[in-house]
Amino acid sequence: MKQATGALLSLLNGLADTAGTPLYRQVYARIRGAILDGTFRSAQRLPSTRTLATDLGMSRITVETAFTQLQAEGFLVRRVGAGSFVAGVLPDYIRSPRRPGSRRSMPPVIARRQGEAALSARGRVIARTALAPEPCDPRPFIPCMPALDAFPHDTWARLLARRARRHGAALSCYGSAAGYRPLREAVASYLSSARGVRCTWEQVVILTGAQQGLELSSRLLLDPGDVVWHEEPGYLGARAAFLAAGARITPVPVDGQGLDIRVGLTAAPGARLAYVTPSHQYPLGITMSLTRRLELLAWAERQDAWIIEDDYDSEFHYRGRPIAAVQGLDTSGRVIYLGSFNKVLFPSLRLAYLVAPVDLVENVVAARALSDGHPPLLSQAALTDFIGEGHFGSHLRQMRALYQERRDVLLDALSTFVGSRLRLGPADTGMHVATWLTGACSDEAIVALGATRGLGMRTLSCHYIGQSPSRGLVLGFSGSPPDQLRRAARTLAEVLDAADGSRRRQTRGAARQ
Ligand SMILES: Cc1ncc(COP(=O)(O)O)c(C=O)c1O
Repeated sequence: MKQATGALLSLLNGLADTAGTPLYRQVYARIRGAILDGTFRSAQRLPSTRTLATDLGMSRITVETAFTQLQAEGFLVRRVGAGSFVAGVLPDYIRSPRRPGSRRSMPPVIARRQGEAALSARGRVIARTALAPEPCDPRPFIPCMPALDAFPHDTWARLLARRARRHGAALSCYGSAAGYRPLREAVASYLSSARGVRCTWEQVVILTGAQQGLELSSRLLLDPGDVVWHEEPGYLGARAAFLAAGARITPVPVDGQGLDIRVGLTAAPGARLAYVTPSHQYPLGITMSLTRRLELLAWAERQDAWIIEDDYDSEFHYRGRPIAAVQGLDTSGRVIYLGSFNKVLFPSLRLAYLVAPVDLVENVVAARALSDGHPPLLSQAALTDFIGEGHFGSHLRQMRALYQERRDVLLDALSTFVGSRLRLGPADTGMHVATWLTGACSDEAIVALGATRGLGMRTLSCHYIGQSPSRGLVLGFSGSPPDQLRRAARTLAEVLDAADGSRRRQTRGAARQ
């Protein structure tokens, strides 16, 4: 008891009734912390509030209030005539005494989660495939980054504020897992006129991201061991979602017409699902030909398989008319169509949509409800106004012109500074261009070196599953103003020089040994 009194006195020493936290709260917090980190063990008796108050020179009410709170939260047991004791029902990790000098002992739940051993088989796959969601600043060359400098933030703020003011209470409630109905209607009407998608508003489910659509679809449609045709090279987020569902992935190469259906038919004719980005293949930038689209649909119908059409950035088309979505050609309800506002407007918006075949809608909504309910109603409502009042259409028109200008600047700067060291892929659509390295350096080395110079490009090779990936760079152009793009192209040329130089030195060194 003497020991506990001494420990408590030194623990509570120096507390001051300064502005901010009331004194009783400080006493409570210190004792609670000492119980949690094992300084006080369960069943240990603490001094009476009277003794403590006298020794500390505090009012007894202060100490009494702190003890009452600790008792209410189950940290202390108080018995009339016997005193106050540290509760005996605290979990083991709380009871185990702290070793001097050791870091605070961590609850085993958290500690174990850091290792894979405690995970389910499915959890282990997820842990390995999970994308690393680093916050990404809009550095030059980051792919899929919209022009945040050109977004009408004031208009957006006004629409949000107006909705909050006028409909705050209604929009603060739970909403439908399928999304805010007026937004579903607006999306259906936009998709039918702009993308040739054939759907009613009931088929539109609002999501936080196209990524969520990939994850929901994988969970709903794939059993462990099912085979998926995946574009080679292809989008890493889709691959991760399919793997997390336990699917086996068959890489199907992309040629000048898009996914090579014949290879898919030979390698895995019985696949359950095909994932495609037909408007603007990610990352190569190819548009899938009509013949391939029809072949793909015919296979899906024959095979009773699904197609996920990821239409992630088709809004930005710089030559001719955009080709309509595969979904619009589907007569047997095999296509799940995904689109996103996160690239068209801004990434942290987290609003996207899935158009489900009629028979699948209810199941998608059920899976969506299970995953996170729905996106915030306020931003869904503000986006409905943004579309309905014409801001969306005018932003798209402006961004098409702006991105075209940025693309032209980039291509021009690459030809000036980088020349034949990079071979360029198609750049008539989208927000990035895929390039191939003509030198011998690895794209990983170049991207790593570029990162130290502030460049945000990605390797081409990381998008491959097979053994012989092409080496190249995926260069985003939409997110950076022209001056920055020119400077970035010059920096890239320096990076390529430096990477080549260091490779030559390494080769010479190896030859001398
Ligand atoms: C091809 C492709 N599909 C889907 C996504 C995910 O989009 P969202 O941000 O809407 O989840 C991305 C993101 O970069 C992408 O590149």
